[in-house]
Amino acid sequence: MIEHYPVLYREIINFTKDIEGWLVDATLGGAGHSYLILESNPNIKIIGIDRDDYAIEIASQRLSKFKDRVIIKKSAFKDIDKVLQEVGLEKVNGFLFDLGVSTFQLKMDRGFSFQREEFLDMRMDKSQYLTAYDVVNTFKEYELFKIIKEYGEERFARCIAKKIVENRKKKKIETTKELADIVIQCYPPSLRRSSKIHPATKTFQAIRIVVNDELNQIETALSKAVNLLEKNGLIMVISFHSLEDRIVKNCFKRFKELKLLEILTKKPITPSEEELRENPPSRSGKLRVARRV
Ligand SMILES: C[S@@+](CC[C@H](N)C(=O)[O-])C[C@H]1O[C@@H](n2cnc3c(N)ncnc32)[C@H](O)[C@@H]1O
Repeated sequence: MIEHYPVLYREIINFTKDIEGWLVDATLGGAGHSYLILESNPNIKIIGIDRDDYAIEIASQRLSKFKDRVIIKKSAFKDIDKVLQEVGLEKVNGFLFDLGVSTFQLKMDRGFSFQREEFLDMRMDKSQYLTAYDVVNTFKEYELFKIIKEYGEERFARCIAKKIVENRKKKKIETTKELADIVIQCYPPSLRRSSKIHPATKTFQAIRIVVNDELNQIETALSKAVNLLEKNGLIMVISFHSLEDRIVKNCFKRFKELKLLEILTKKPITPSEEELRENPPSRSGKLRVARRV
């Protein structure tokens, strides 16, 4: 099994140590966080949600020893209200969102990775229709430009959109490697190797956001979560890029103004030196936490 190392887990354990009752882990993944939370706090029960079938399968195995302290549901987290209705709960005592993709999604030939030759898929939920292949091969040039610029914050977006369209006229772009090679052509040679991050990172992030409707999901789920929290319940969100973090920050601010949330992290918490040594991919993680008033 491919291990996913839970980001900022010490901080999450600390925030959840006094919770009594139900916590929704809205991004269950391989249950890294959930396992540690259940083990460290005997008064907590978890409703785990993920829209990826493989996550549901491995998390169910991993958490089986906690028996009736765990309920697992396959769902997109924008539908958390429906999930709670199904399990007969009106309110819960906490929410955890650990945004983005799991290590197994990146490493298991799911079309998220430009390091290998994989079919351009990028769906977290394999039962959904839209794939990265559809986005890359059917969206108009100006749509691709807008997506790559807005969701990738990519300065070479115009060139990348143009090259995608030029290339797909000759032959459909089918694999992650083919797309990555097109993106690289738009980077000046001096920047191709000098940067710490691969030139295709931002374009892949942008397309993944579109395929999985990621930003709308966050906005909707956070607004619903605030209204599904008991007094003093916590919302904890770990984000991995500035677009996600901005949504979380603005959402917390809005609910603070409405006197529904108290913000517990004036600045987001980032991984300690120790965690960065143990788990370098945690470096972009940012945790924001708020309490229901
Ligand atoms: C970073 S991983 C979570 C890892 C987990 N915290 C752990 O420690 O193992 C994010 C997970 O959230 C899921 N996910 C992302 N967006 C989702 C959404 N809108 N609805 C449901 N699940 C989502 C992904 O499928 C992935 O498994």
